[in-house]
Amino acid sequence: MGKGDTTAVEYHSHDFNFEWWKQQVISQGLCPSDVQPHPSVEEASCDDVEYCQADCVQETQQSAWEQFHQQHEKGVFFKERRYLLVEFPELSNKDDPYVVLEIGCGNGSSALPLLRANPKCKVYACDFSPKAVDATCAAASTLGDLSGRFIPFVCDVAATVPVLPDTRSSEETQQTTAPPPGSCGTLDILACGRLLLDSWLLSASTSPSRPLADHALLVFVASAVHPARTVTFLRHAAAAVRPGGCLLFRDYGLYDMTMLRFPAAQRLDERLYKRQDGTLTFFFTVEDLHRLCAELGLQLVECEYCCVELVNRKNKKPMRRVFVHARMRIPVEGISHKTL
Ligand SMILES: C[S@@+](CC[C@H](N)C(=O)[O-])C[C@H]1O[C@@H](n2cnc3c(N)ncnc32)[C@H](O)[C@@H]1O
Repeated sequence: MGKGDTTAVEYHSHDFNFEWWKQQVISQGLCPSDVQPHPSVEEASCDDVEYCQADCVQETQQSAWEQFHQQHEKGVFFKERRYLLVEFPELSNKDDPYVVLEIGCGNGSSALPLLRANPKCKVYACDFSPKAVDATCAAASTLGDLSGRFIPFVCDVAATVPVLPDTRSSEETQQTTAPPPGSCGTLDILACGRLLLDSWLLSASTSPSRPLADHALLVFVASAVHPARTVTFLRHAAAAVRPGGCLLFRDYGLYDMTMLRFPAAQRLDERLYKRQDGTLTFFFTVEDLHRLCAELGLQLVECEYCCVELVNRKNKKPMRRVFVHARMRIPVEGISHKTL
């Protein structure tokens, strides 16, 4: 099926039962015995030393992902995720204009299907890797004139104060892939980023002019954030969304095949791993999402494991993928933000 094909997308979410899979994993010793299904990300309980170590690890992430995107800039590493329109039906609303903030846009695999499917939607897409943002711009340029519907920018959403790289050297700026006319350029990226940053910083105020999104899309990005920064990360995401809007979340889940395959040496913490290229990946439980929402004052309106069975083309063996799907609503009365 071609990328632009709009035929119905099959969405699998319950190919097998999570509890059954958990028993298989435990009884067959497929994962380290100290992995518990219930403990959750513990930002609050980190002591100073742990917090400093987490900070050091997190600070290496921007460059690790920048290198990752540099290595994959020639090919499309992430495929278009057209199933998102089925998974989150609010994104298929063709009648009303709506605004989505995508965090961790990678090479545009989520932004593109939205822009393609809904001529009335406007997508702010950010990533802390400038290479990723350039890749998303290049991919979006294939869609033709987006006339103000696509606003990419660079921002580290997990930073204590969201950081925009507004000091890129002129050399770096010149190396940036030249954007097609009317789409995005480095200056525009930075200007848009600044606008959004301002909205975050003002989020505790009642400014009616804040450019809030209807929804924020978090697809396989929270797992790339050190768990000691997850609360900060989600708080920034929530601050950019209007009351009543949602954080739409899909990410790696406990006992996902990729978790079971990680070598022990790459395990940093119970459910936190470092890939060989230095990027982090954390495997979420549904309990994590319950705790995070309670801490942030968000309403968890949907949260479940999605269990998808794929078959390895070469050896025909089943590959059991586990994802966490969640919808976290910003209460209509809004949330009170702690200092950013
Ligand atoms: C696994 S990729 C997912 C990309 C895309 N969402 C997708 O589903 O294909 C994670 C992306 O999040 C970005 N990222 C990780 N941490 C981030 C942060 N703190 N702020 C902004 N982007 C971040 C990375 O650069 C990378 O592009």
